[in-house]
Amino acid sequence: MNYRHAFHAGNFADVFKHTILIGLLDALKQKAAPFCYFDTHAGAGKYDLRGVQAEKTGEAADGVLRLLDVKSPPPLLQGYLDLLRSLNPQDAAAGIALYPGSPLIATSVMRDTDRAVLCELQPDEAAQLKKLFAHDARVGVHQRDGYAALGALVPPKERRGLVLIDPPFEAQDEEFLAIEAALATAYSRWPTGIYAIWYPIKLREQTRPFHRWFVSQKIGKTLVVELLRQPDDSALRLNGCGMVIVNPPWQFDQHLRRLMPVLQDRLKVGGTGQVRLDWLTRE
Ligand SMILES: C[S@@+](CC[C@H](N)C(=O)[O-])C[C@H]1O[C@@H](n2cnc3c(N)ncnc32)[C@H](O)[C@@H]1O
Repeated sequence: MNYRHAFHAGNFADVFKHTILIGLLDALKQKAAPFCYFDTHAGAGKYDLRGVQAEKTGEAADGVLRLLDVKSPPPLLQGYLDLLRSLNPQDAAAGIALYPGSPLIATSVMRDTDRAVLCELQPDEAAQLKKLFAHDARVGVHQRDGYAALGALVPPKERRGLVLIDPPFEAQDEEFLAIEAALATAYSRWPTGIYAIWYPIKLREQTRPFHRWFVSQKIGKTLVVELLRQPDDSALRLNGCGMVIVNPPWQFDQHLRRLMPVLQDRLKVGGTGQVRLDWLTRE
C-alpha cells in the first residue's frame, strides 16, 4: 500500500468524484429521514494543497484550481464551490489551501441526525481521520479493509444511504474484481442503497468487463458517467475517470448532464476532452 492521496488531492479526478458526491448527498437530504454514508476507502479526510506532498505533484493546478472562477455554475458544481469557500474563508481571494477529502465533504453536508462510517486501512491515514473526527459523534472511523467492512455493516439501521467506493487502484484489474466481490455481497444485503464506484480510465478495454459485470448481475438501475481528458489508449497515463452509480436518485442524470460539459471544458488537456453519460442497466 504505497498510495497516499495527499499527492493527488484536488486533481481532476477529485473534482469529478467530489462534485458528484455532493450531489448524491444533497439528494439524500431531500427526505427528512436520516441516512448513513459509508466510505470504504476514506483517506486522511482533508489535505493541505500548500503542503509538501501536494506541491510536489501540483495536481490541483490542473484540477480544482481551474474551476474556481466558473460563472453561473450548474447546481452540483455550485455546491462544491460553496463548500470549498466555506472551508477556506481566509483564502477567498488567493485560492484554496484546505482541500476536503470525501469524509470531510460528507460530514460537512450531513445533518445532525445522519451518520458516517469511514474505513481506511493505512495506519497513518486512519490516525489522521480519527483525529479529525474525534469530537463528531456522527462519525465512526474503522481502521480495516473497506471491502470486508462493507459486507459486514450493511444494511445500516437507517435503511437509506450512500456507499462511496474509491480505492487506490494500485493493481487495476484486481481492484475491479475486489469491487465486484464486495458489491455482490453488499447489494444482496442492501439492494436499495446507493453505491457510487469511482474508477480510473487508462485503456478503454480495461473498463469494459467491469461495466458488463453490472449487466450480468442484473443490478437494477445503474448509471455510468465518465470524463476523458485525453484518448483512452495509453496504459501509462490517467486519461480520465468514471463513476458507476447504482440506484441513482431521481433525475440525477439530468444534474450530471448539466455538470459534465463544464468539467469537460475546464479540465480538458489539449483537444476537447470527452464525456459519457449512459444507463448500464435500467430495470
Ligand atoms: C483514492 S484514496 C481515497 C480518497 C478519498 N475517498 C477521498 O475522496 O478523499 C484511497 C485510500 O484507500 C486506502 N486503502 C487502500 N486499500 C484499502 C482497503 N482495502 N480498505 C480500506 N482502505 C484502503 C488507501 O490508504 C487510500 O488512503
